[in-house]
Amino acid sequence: MSNAFRLTLTCGLFVSASLAQAQAPQPSRRDVADTYASLCANCHGPKLQGALGPNLVDDTWKSGADDESIARSIREGQLAAGMPAFSGSLSPQDIRALVIYIREQGEERRSQATPFAKPAADKAVRSELHAFKLETVTEGLDTPWSVAFLPDGRMLVTEKAGRLRVVEKGRLLPEPIAGTPDVWSKGQGGLLDVAVHPDSAKNGWIYLSYSDPGANDSAMTAIVRGKLREGRFVEQQTLFRAPAELYRTAGVHFGSRFVFDGKGHLFFSIGERGHKEDAQDLSRPNGKVHRIHEDGRIPKDNPFAGREGAVASIWSYGNRNPQGLARHPVTGELWETEHGPRGGDELNRIEPGRNYGWPVITYGMNYDGTPMTDRTAQEGMQQPVVHWTPSIAVSAADFYTGSRFPQWKNDLFVGALAQQEVRRLRIEGGKVVQQEVLFKDVGRVRDVVSGPDGYLYIAFNDPDRIARLVPAPAVKPASGKAQGAAKP
Ligand code: HEC
Repeated sequence: MSNAFRLTLTCGLFVSASLAQAQAPQPSRRDVADTYASLCANCHGPKLQGALGPNLVDDTWKSGADDESIARSIREGQLAAGMPAFSGSLSPQDIRALVIYIREQGEERRSQATPFAKPAADKAVRSELHAFKLETVTEGLDTPWSVAFLPDGRMLVTEKAGRLRVVEKGRLLPEPIAGTPDVWSKGQGGLLDVAVHPDSAKNGWIYLSYSDPGANDSAMTAIVRGKLREGRFVEQQTLFRAPAELYRTAGVHFGSRFVFDGKGHLFFSIGERGHKEDAQDLSRPNGKVHRIHEDGRIPKDNPFAGREGAVASIWSYGNRNPQGLARHPVTGELWETEHGPRGGDELNRIEPGRNYGWPVITYGMNYDGTPMTDRTAQEGMQQPVVHWTPSIAVSAADFYTGSRFPQWKNDLFVGALAQQEVRRLRIEGGKVVQQEVLFKDVGRVRDVVSGPDGYLYIAFNDPDRIARLVPAPAVKPASGKAQGAAKP
């Protein structure tokens, strides 16, 4: 018996103090699936299919379909109808985790019942607005991470292990580009994004982001630019590198994506490197979206440029693992996709100086099913435009700017790793008014790029390849309800 325990037994004061505490349930440390199995399954069924209590995965709700209504049902119960109140035994965090769990189970049941397109070679897929084929451009790559196009039509591809590859007329050149930076290739780290300067026909600049190795096996996302000459990366300049003491040893959450604003600025993102609290700390670069001049200088009008102790390149903060950044082709707004924990993947509209909330607010819970927080909103913190709960494991995003799929013009295309899907999002007035799953289950989607030739390029992992969506003219677009249509 521990001393503390003996004290509470022998001292009446301590006993009453701990009883008072027991009235406010603390978050449990067990998996939400166990909580469900022990407290809910005997009435709602082990698979949530319903028994004495109603089915919780059929998308019909008597007491409200939104998260808060479901949380209220669990918290307050419906005593007369036989649903006990759990506010006395479950913490708000546990109740939030149960809501996420119910959402996950419902989505799993729905996706089992929905015939999502799984495009095979040369087989046309009908979607709501266009029919397309998914055509392989090149295989033979090792974990491609990012795709960009040179003005002459050649394609650059980063491989996570640290190689920059060139694809010329559909042929992967055998030799990687020499002279790119050494990368920390562990966990999620490696050579990450590649971007070609919008004026590169004149200036030749190619931008790379990567996990830069630091002391004691630590790493942080860093940014360089350089030029391609005779198969080499030359004239390299470091544009962003954090002080060595800010590097982190975790193998996760490096970000990162680039986007140019066409006015001389470069945006890039860095994940929180597995240290949640860093995302709220303005003296650290991780868990942020940054803005610099294209040559690395800090714009004087950055939101924290004048603040003592703040990293001057920070544009927004409270971002968990932003792996997608894209600029709206008409409004110029900056949109970001952010990989959440279990639940709580986000699509955000990034505005300068704003706090996007991680980890203070989130729609997710811990990967192991233990609760995190019940706070999904707070004064002074931005709400996502959309959150995906359950998670799709959102990765990259790009607006379609080509003309081969005219009805997709300016739609946002979003890739997902775990759910292996590409979604089309229609955005109007800063809101997502429509979501469609274009296809699923042909590989983990790592990058999505609107190509200069009007095709939509996709980098897949497992199996590794670059493919593109090309119009399939012979097939009439599906009318009415399309396959895989999802609610926003
Ligand atoms: C003793 C049986 C019983 C247990 C235990 C129980 N429920 Fe229920 N639950 C019910 C019944 C009966 C209803 C329907 C209440 C009504 O008709 O208003 C219900 C309703 C609900 C609803 C609202 C459904 C709707 O259509 O709006 C939710 C959500 C819910 N329960 C979740 C849970 C969760 C989560 C647990 C475990 C923490 C749980 N229940 C435990 C019997 C139970």
